[in-house]
Amino acid sequence: MIKKIAVFTSGGDAPGMNACIRAVVRTSMYYGIEVYGIRRGYNGMIAGDIYQMTSHSVSNIIQRGGTILKSARSKEFMTKEGRQKAFEQLQKFGIEGLVAIGGNGTFTGATIFYDEYGIPTVGAPGTIDNDLFGTDYTIGYDTAVNTALEAIDKIRDTADSHDRVFFIEVMGRDSGYIAIQSGIAGGAEIVMVPEVLTPITEVIETLKQGWNRSKSSSIIVVAEGDEEGNAAEVAEKIKSRVDIDIDIRVTTLGHIQRGGIPTAYDRILASRLGLGAVEGLMNGHKNVMVGIINNEIIYTPFRDTIRLPKPINEDMLRMVKILST
Ligand code: F6P
Repeated sequence: MIKKIAVFTSGGDAPGMNACIRAVVRTSMYYGIEVYGIRRGYNGMIAGDIYQMTSHSVSNIIQRGGTILKSARSKEFMTKEGRQKAFEQLQKFGIEGLVAIGGNGTFTGATIFYDEYGIPTVGAPGTIDNDLFGTDYTIGYDTAVNTALEAIDKIRDTADSHDRVFFIEVMGRDSGYIAIQSGIAGGAEIVMVPEVLTPITEVIETLKQGWNRSKSSSIIVVAEGDEEGNAAEVAEKIKSRVDIDIDIRVTTLGHIQRGGIPTAYDRILASRLGLGAVEGLMNGHKNVMVGIINNEIIYTPFRDTIRLPKPINEDMLRMVKILST
């Protein structure tokens, strides 16, 4: 039976990470497992920035954005020497298992670490991008979508008052999940995502159809990693190819999408995943990510979450087209 575990958050932070930390700590206490927190992800593991947590350490955090353990993307852990130091620190504390809350970079590090030192890790998917295979939703995604939506609603007011076309950039380097859901909920005329090419000609065509129907303002949601470029680049391309005078503005939502109070959905998801991660370690799982698919807890090997893409639902893009006519 595993007796001592540690929890850390790594990579880009996501609202709900604190709810997950809380669930990991409280579940461990419930089962009589000693639990340690590692600050600043793998960097803190290397530096030995590790402390024992109790039920009290996670009081009053379920509603807070960010992560009380702080987060980092560690270059040092990518080196053999870095991982050696991290292992020595974990040994000092007698830590036998890890809960890693993060994304694919975090899980890649954990897999290499296990191959070298045999410390089992169960990952909990924490990223606003929702780009991890093995779970329907990741911690932070729902909050990020709602944050983007609130901004889109506000921009629509001013777009309408001034008869303008707005290009709104949302996060998602390789993933269009935030763009699609916030775009649909915000009634966007066009949504551009990295997974599916929307050529500039098609954007112009859609805008023209709108003008012909006397549509005076339009919202185009662009995921930052779109193939045609980011929102500013897409807007420039449109301006240079359209001969009529249109009033275009660009808004980049940026890191506002990473912060804020987690939604009820994210808190519940994070709580279930935190509990599932600890029970997973207790049941001998290693190198897996705990996820929820069709409302059921599922453990997926890291090698699959890292390797396999999580396709977007193209039917959603079809819906954007139909509903914006
Ligand atoms: O992976 C989460 C994410 O927010 C991406 O959507 C975005 O591209 C990236 O992190 C931004 O990273 P950073 O915080 O390092 O600028």
